[in-house]
Amino acid sequence: MKRVLLVLLFVAFGSLVMVREASAKRWLVGDNMGWSTSYGVNYTNWAKGKHFYNGDWLFFVYDRNQMNVLEVKKTDYESCNSDHPLHNWTTGAGRDVVPLNVTRNYYFISGKGFCFGGMKLAVHVEKLPPPQKAAPEVAGAPLALYSRSQVVLLPVVLAVGAAWDAFIHLW
Ligand SMILES: *[C@@H]1O[C@H](CO)[C@@H](O)[C@H](O)[C@H]1NC(C)=O
Ligand SMILES: *[C@@H]1O[C@H](CO)[C@@H](O)[C@H](O)[C@H]1NC(C)=O
Ligand SMILES: *[C@@H]1O[C@H](CO)[C@@H](O)[C@H](O)[C@H]1NC(C)=O
Repeated sequence: MKRVLLVLLFVAFGSLVMVREASAKRWLVGDNMGWSTSYGVNYTNWAKGKHFYNGDWLFFVYDRNQMNVLEVKKTDYESCNSDHPLHNWTTGAGRDVVPLNVTRNYYFISGKGFCFGGMKLAVHVEKLPPPQKAAPEVAGAPLALYSRSQVVLLPVVLAVGAAWDAFIHLW
């Protein structure tokens, strides 16, 4: 009975970690500085080193009386041309959520001249890596233990095991 419970506990915890790993992320653009020219945020640097996956969202928070959020093509992003947006994500509340639901490059600018002040963001959206796919095997040695999710899972399993042991001994 104890064994069965223990296994169930492992499975439950394991899937919890897996789901967290695979869940979509909502990115607050510019972090606490938001979508603004006031703090000198360089949005290219903000995006650098981050991994945006298909299914994530961008969350733009800004002064609705001044800025907006326009998706444009690459050349218009480069030249800060807001005359022909591909998509106007501005809803009027100064809090706009953009779903990144296609694996491609996205380009955003603020119109009304603010792009020239630095309000331009390019993100590369990647395909979500399959959570349980093992790393390629090297010389026949399975490297599955070192894949993205397993690294997280293993300590959790050990911790749960230890906690369960302590619990059993209290009884
Ligand atoms: C974008 O949409 C908002 C809300 O509908 C509208 O007020 C604004 O004029 C639009 N901006 C552009 C550049 O199309
Ligand atoms: C992505 O989201 C937009 C806006 O919600 C929607 O119009 C579009 O159909 C979606 N595309 C895909 C491939 O799901
Ligand atoms: C942001 O920084 C990059 C270098 O990391 C630079 O090439 C780019 O011009 C900067 N963008 C703005 C809007 O200042």
